[in-house]
Amino acid sequence: MAIQGILLLLGLLVLVDSLAHYEGVTANHDSASLNRSSFPAGFIFGTASSSYQYEGAAKEGGKGPSIWDTYTHRYPGKIKDGSNGDVAVDSYHRYKEDVGIMKEMGLDAYRFSISWSRLLPDGKLSGGVNKAGIRYYNNLINELLSNGLQPFVTIFHWDLPQALEDKYGGFLSPYIVDDFQDYAELCYREFGDRVKHWITLNEPWSYSFGGYGVGFLAPGRCSQWVSGSCTGGDSSTEPYVVAHHLLLAHASAVKVYKEKYQASQKGKIGITIVSHWMVPYSHGKPNNNAAKRALDFMLGWFMDPLTVGDYPPSMRLHVGKRLPKFSKQQSMMVKGSFDFLGLNYYTANYAANVPVSNSVNVSYMTDAHINLTTERNGTSIGPKAASDWLFVYPRGIRDLLLYTKRKYNNPVIYITENGIDELNDGKLSLKEALKDNMRIDYYHRHLSFLRRAIKDGVHVRGYFAWSLLDNFEWDSGYTVRFGINYVDYKDGYKRYPKHSAIWFKKFLKK
Ligand SMILES: *[C@@H]1O[C@H](CO)[C@@H](O)[C@H](O)[C@H]1NC(C)=O
Ligand SMILES: *[C@@H]1O[C@H](CO)[C@@H](O)[C@H](O)[C@H]1NC(C)=O
Ligand SMILES: *[C@@H]1O[C@H](CO)[C@@H](O)[C@H](O)[C@H]1NC(C)=O
Ligand SMILES: *[C@@H]1O[C@H](CO)[C@@H](O)[C@H](O)[C@H]1NC(C)=O
Repeated sequence: MAIQGILLLLGLLVLVDSLAHYEGVTANHDSASLNRSSFPAGFIFGTASSSYQYEGAAKEGGKGPSIWDTYTHRYPGKIKDGSNGDVAVDSYHRYKEDVGIMKEMGLDAYRFSISWSRLLPDGKLSGGVNKAGIRYYNNLINELLSNGLQPFVTIFHWDLPQALEDKYGGFLSPYIVDDFQDYAELCYREFGDRVKHWITLNEPWSYSFGGYGVGFLAPGRCSQWVSGSCTGGDSSTEPYVVAHHLLLAHASAVKVYKEKYQASQKGKIGITIVSHWMVPYSHGKPNNNAAKRALDFMLGWFMDPLTVGDYPPSMRLHVGKRLPKFSKQQSMMVKGSFDFLGLNYYTANYAANVPVSNSVNVSYMTDAHINLTTERNGTSIGPKAASDWLFVYPRGIRDLLLYTKRKYNNPVIYITENGIDELNDGKLSLKEALKDNMRIDYYHRHLSFLRRAIKDGVHVRGYFAWSLLDNFEWDSGYTVRFGINYVDYKDGYKRYPKHSAIWFKKFLKK
């Protein structure tokens, strides 16, 4: 998930167009008008999560440290509330209860990620496999299946083993490709008899941009001139190098699945890409082209290699020699390396053209020559959520899906994340905190536009809401709540259904 937010924060301090906006909303959220039966037969509804944001048990069960353990402990000042995922929402111990919540809601599937350093504490096969880690994921998968829920498993959701960061700089090094392939293969071998949907990577854009462009996600690298608090880095080269290795690691993990496991295990494999929808700031060619470039630098950065085997022409033009090149063999391996595409959609930006100038320091953030904003003539693109980057723009989900269908040859798609957050407001009573009408409105509107996209011929097979529970939101810590279910951090991590959980249950009823 993530965050053109830094740009926005630098550029404009947006009026706090708070969730109060929703008070007057009178849209019909009744399940009589939109419900499961509004979608094709076999369409899958689930919720999504990730290991570092949910599991906790950071030092239990033989787990090795990940870069998120290191980052949160070494630089607590970089997390809004100084917190970390040591306990998170304790799903390592409470997975049975959590599966029970999903069953009660009537969900069909659960998207979760595997913690690489829980299976391989040293990051590499040669460092040994942690049996307790294998056991945990077997237990979770079996619990899901015996309650009628399908596991959709993300192999890498940003929590890289610290050992590999120390050894060779993680995804900055081509050595990561073989180690990722080994780790993925371990997952197929141990769990592939029961897991039929694999997602290699979550949001490589966020990992590259957030971790190496602006430095607000682990490992927190960027150029000195971008932020004095970064731990070294070069925002003009490292995001591109890291993205390149992410793509190669993805493709080699897919190759080994297809060559050695798919025939017998009969699963599907894909990748999850995030993109905002981009709206031209005004009519006219310069800003129309700016919006296209904005999509190229966020979605196309990954989708072009995955479908045509090279980066978008606009990126090759503007990044030039700093953009890594695929060899012929690599290009062929990356091209077509997915059975399905996972898409995460949260929000939209206005994109305006910025004339090319040679006076600025170059970086991933300046290379596209765009100015991304969320406000135009004093009006925001949509109501603001708790996160600074999240403005509600429901029609964007349909626009993004139609664009992806047209431009990238109509792939099979799962929406693997979509959701909204509210502030963690300690002054609210529990009863008040469970009232999340803005979330019901968000889901209702996005699902309505999703249904239209399907009617328009986009091959969407499933939808995962972010998120089942409130959880650790990266640099925002626990200051925001993305959950459909509430977690009481002050009272033993007890879970309570918010109003949206009850809404979902009605929506999903068969
Ligand atoms: C679901 O929606 C359809 C209209 O799309 C409606 O006919 C049906 O009654 C609804 N089902 C429930 C259980 O509300
Ligand atoms: C902003 O408002 C001015 C004055 O009403 C108008 O001329 C201009 O076209 C608007 N700009 C955009 C991008 O809508
Ligand atoms: C550009 O980078 C240099 C150091 O490399 C720095 O001194 C300068 O402030 C930067 N300019 C801007 C606009 O950030
Ligand atoms: C980006 O757009 C905003 C809103 O129009 C404007 O205030 C700001 O100066 C622009 N920034 C750049 C770098 O063009």
